[in-house]
Amino acid sequence: APGDDHVIVLFGATGDLARRELIPGLFHLAKAGLLPPRYRIIGSARSTRTDDEFRQLAKDAVAEFGLAEPTGEAWDEFASSLSYGAATPTDSQPLLDAVAAAEKALGGHPRRLFHLAVPPAAFTPTIGMLADTGLARNARIIVEKPFGTDLASARALNDTIHATFDESQVFRIDHFLGKESVDNILALRFANGLFEPIWNRDHISHVQIDVPETIGIEGRAAFFEQTGAFRDMIVTHLFQVLGFVAMEPPTSLAANQLRDETTKVFEAMPPLDPTRVVRGQYRGYRDEPGVDAGSQTETFIAARVEVDNWRWSGVPFYLRTGKSLGQKRQAITLGFTEPPLRMFALDAATPNNQLVIDFDDPGWIAAHFLAKEPGATMRLGGATMTFRYADSFCTRHALAGYERLILDAMLGDQSLFTRADGIERLWEVSAPLLDDPPPVEPYSPGSWGPDSTDRLISPHHWYLPDNP
Ligand code: BG6
Repeated sequence: APGDDHVIVLFGATGDLARRELIPGLFHLAKAGLLPPRYRIIGSARSTRTDDEFRQLAKDAVAEFGLAEPTGEAWDEFASSLSYGAATPTDSQPLLDAVAAAEKALGGHPRRLFHLAVPPAAFTPTIGMLADTGLARNARIIVEKPFGTDLASARALNDTIHATFDESQVFRIDHFLGKESVDNILALRFANGLFEPIWNRDHISHVQIDVPETIGIEGRAAFFEQTGAFRDMIVTHLFQVLGFVAMEPPTSLAANQLRDETTKVFEAMPPLDPTRVVRGQYRGYRDEPGVDAGSQTETFIAARVEVDNWRWSGVPFYLRTGKSLGQKRQAITLGFTEPPLRMFALDAATPNNQLVIDFDDPGWIAAHFLAKEPGATMRLGGATMTFRYADSFCTRHALAGYERLILDAMLGDQSLFTRADGIERLWEVSAPLLDDPPPVEPYSPGSWGPDSTDRLISPHHWYLPDNP
């Protein structure tokens, strides 16, 4: 657990993310003994409310979304650390009072950690307020995604942040990088001699990063209409996962060494070709409350991208994600090249030669290959070798993505946070698509998106084997 006393301020404390992930995650960290021995958590939002009202909101959030019930001594102790201080663009006095009270209660000079779980438009005013009021002193800041909406806004946001914070105090969060099974990509690739030698263009024909979701926009119309699936998922989560899949071995796992390597991957990505992108919108989206009747916002996106370097030149990476699709999955598939000579009669439909990394925590890894069917003839069938966490490890101490990353931010470890240069490069890569987006194609809820998604990946096929 972090040793420094902490005052954690959660901006956006009454919002969807705070209720679903952050408050339950902080309580889980507290229960696991992973919060500092002395801490206070202050909720902040624009609306006025009392400490007790905020404690009730937190309790309801943990009851609805948390792993553990908000009861007993553990809850009472956690709840007693909670308070609330409103902050609006013109009045941050209640928040200042709450911080002063929390710091007085802890004594000494606790470290401040600000988590900006607010819409992108609120980042700059909130940071300005932290600077003007002096709250930024001795502080670290966690900034949510999407970090900007394009290159110019990301640069401006980085400038705003750097006017007040040193880069070592800045934690740009992408909770996919906190997932156990995404982190495990580094172990799989760089701790074993088994996979890395074939992890390149000589042996891999294509890569899929596939994150279909079954949920719609869940009442988040205001956020989603401004953001869309590309900014919500691709330029953030899927590109970051791609960075881990494609990076060269870093010289160490230290934050800058690791991020140097993902940034190099992003630098090697040519700007997106809009003719190799499919944008979709589920039927019924325009009827959702808060959505414009003529909305062109995409709820689905698939793209073919490349990484033009020695390891990956010529290997397409296919990315797909969307709302209201047939299944909720998070998976990476590496398709391996066929052997030079086919000695075996084979049903072309038998899936084989694929390594699948499912990263929907707890996740699993499966190698799909061909094997001889037992019997007198040389007939082949599809076979699978599977890794499941629970078979090899005790998973009791597993943390959710957000939990792991909030813990790392308190420890000052930036390894799993994104860096200014990497993010700016990703917006640069995205520019042709943002400037000239193809029209949205409708798709039926529960389907796999627009039909043209299959043409995008041809001659390959989207491959999503069932959970083992
Ligand atoms: C969030 C997106 O960052 O990630 C959501 O804003 C998406 O739209 C979510 O549903 C998916 O992440 P997870 O970890 O909840 O599956």
